[in-house]
Amino acid sequence: MIRLSQRLAALKGYPMAEIPAIKRRLVEAGVDVIDTGPGDADYPPPAEVITTLQRAVENPAMSKYGFQQGLPAFRRAATDWMRRRFGLEFDPVTELLPLIGSKDGLAHLPFAVLDPGDVAIIPEPGYQAYIGGTVLAGGEPYIYPLTARTGFLVELDEAPTELLRRTRLLFLNYPNNPTAAIAPLDYLERTVATCRRHGIVLAYDNPYCDLTFDGYRAPSIFEVSGAREVAVEFFSMSKSFSMTGWRLGWAAGAPHFIQALNRVKSYVDTGPFLAVQQAAVTALDNAERLIPPVVAELTRRRDAAVAALRREGFALESPRGAMYLWVALPEGVGSAQFARHALERHGVVTLPGVGFGPAGEGYFRIALTVSPERLVEAAGRLGAALAEVRGVEVGVK
Ligand SMILES: Cc1ncc(COP(=O)(O)O)c(C=O)c1O
Repeated sequence: MIRLSQRLAALKGYPMAEIPAIKRRLVEAGVDVIDTGPGDADYPPPAEVITTLQRAVENPAMSKYGFQQGLPAFRRAATDWMRRRFGLEFDPVTELLPLIGSKDGLAHLPFAVLDPGDVAIIPEPGYQAYIGGTVLAGGEPYIYPLTARTGFLVELDEAPTELLRRTRLLFLNYPNNPTAAIAPLDYLERTVATCRRHGIVLAYDNPYCDLTFDGYRAPSIFEVSGAREVAVEFFSMSKSFSMTGWRLGWAAGAPHFIQALNRVKSYVDTGPFLAVQQAAVTALDNAERLIPPVVAELTRRRDAAVAALRREGFALESPRGAMYLWVALPEGVGSAQFARHALERHGVVTLPGVGFGPAGEGYFRIALTVSPERLVEAAGRLGAALAEVRGVEVGVK
């Protein structure tokens, strides 16, 4: 009898893993499915970025192993962008590491930081790579529930000192997936100070920093003084440039953190595709021109969807960052039950809050990945789904 690891067993299966299969069945049956599930927008990467990729693929040198060093031009473009975007200087060789999507770095950092029994503080609901990497690395996850009470912020000062003493790693992500919360600078300053006091590495996951609305500008964690002592920041090409499947991001931070992550990764992968790194140079060098139209479109989608959902009786904030709506469900309506009903009876894919961990119960997430018109149509269908699910609840009682 083959026995699999206890670490693997500790990672529960995703509660709505059957969504893609149900969606396929419905589409085959001719149902007009609206997919607001994964954070994968319906618009393509910028045309000039695609052209650069096409040309790069024809260069045989781009088909070689990239290794951890990758393409020097990509490192240069990423550090140039960080200078323009945040006013921060990073050495492209020693303070930056290309990643196969930022998920790669987030999931592998715990292998460089944690020993058995060391604690990583994981915000929940949250991106599942944090807990995945922590558990697979043998660390001990401490789940911090993100709630409206704290503005969906992790308030480290509320954690017992004994816990902070054992904590080696903290994951933070603002603008946040899935709650769409943003973090004020004074909050980040407080948090960096606590991390410095307790020797906690701060993994700052920042893939949505450019998707912000109403004049809000999301900072880099390195805008906080002293952050270089404790933080590693993760950036992604996925969301700003719609390059999700191309798999490219990077980590930035002090040389000893970058070296440590580099060492872990050198045992498990051989770096991102060089042609994709070449294409990313075009994207990053033109970010100031390429990103505003994306933000304008997401703003239209957000405004249309928020208004339509409120008309249907849902309670939600209008977010200032990321590409998600975090929608509260009425007391007693289970998020998995609601999401399944909305999909099977009304052809709308959403993600149940519980899919981001038990603390996400009571909410569902809509990704702004389809047109404003489709989002309004989805809101109408979700309103009908909610009325039916509540009707069942009332009938049962
Ligand atoms: C919070 C968060 N972090 C990281 C990622 C991973 O992005 P990437 O495509 O760069 O791996 C995502 C993707 O959805 C995300 O939502």
